Amino acid sequence: MLFRQLFDAESSTYTYLIADHTTKAAVLVDPVLEQVERDLKLLKELGLILHYCLETHVHADHVTGTDRLRQATSCSGIVPDRAHVACADRHIKDGETLHLGDITITAIATPGHTDSHMAYLVNDDRVLTGDALFIRGCGRTDFQSGDAGTLYDSVTKHLFTLPDETLVYPAHDYRGHTVSTIGEEKRWNSRFAERDGRGANRLRHRPSFIEFMNHLNLPDPKKIMEAVPANEMCGHLAATA
Ligand code: FE2
Repeated sequence: MLFRQLFDAESSTYTYLIADHTTKAAVLVDPVLEQVERDLKLLKELGLILHYCLETHVHADHVTGTDRLRQATSCSGIVPDRAHVACADRHIKDGETLHLGDITITAIATPGHTDSHMAYLVNDDRVLTGDALFIRGCGRTDFQSGDAGTLYDSVTKHLFTLPDETLVYPAHDYRGHTVSTIGEEKRWNSRFAERDGRGANRLRHRPSFIEFMNHLNLPDPKKIMEAVPANEMCGHLAATA
């Protein structure tokens, strides 16, 4: 399997390029509009055929590159089931799989950051966690139908139940991290873990997580007014005019 983590510095977004060496079939997960030329150049250099652009959710902080990549390559745009993206070629449901040669990508419904968010398990050894779980953090839950209790349930019941050695690849990082593991996040992610009286780490209680998330008081992302409507149109910018 070819697996590349690509970064957009302006929005601190990770895009993932995953491809099968034999068939050359490729998928881009969470492509960013401003990085489409980079991604097309890389696909060409590596001799890959882009089959899918796959979104973890409808983003509020950047515009997706799906529309432009679809025009350039005839790939299909895939978004989570229940995401309000009428122009998508396909909606993917919880438990549904995508195949690229020997690679299996399985959707895991992980709502909470948004109500239709999906994580994607790749070949059972790594998980693209989108904005549900960051390295030592998580996505906010105060807009786009977000809900802190729902996010707690998604992460603790559907991500923290994966094997500890599963690699965690988030959709963003703001502090220079690139990859973690489920075991490491269960222990050291302070949104979900806390120390007990004897200094051992344990899972934070659900009400404590909700209380914390509901008092973050973060400003709206700079691009929210532009990005959400554009992403509901697969990144077609005319939608925002
Ligand atoms: Fe997001």
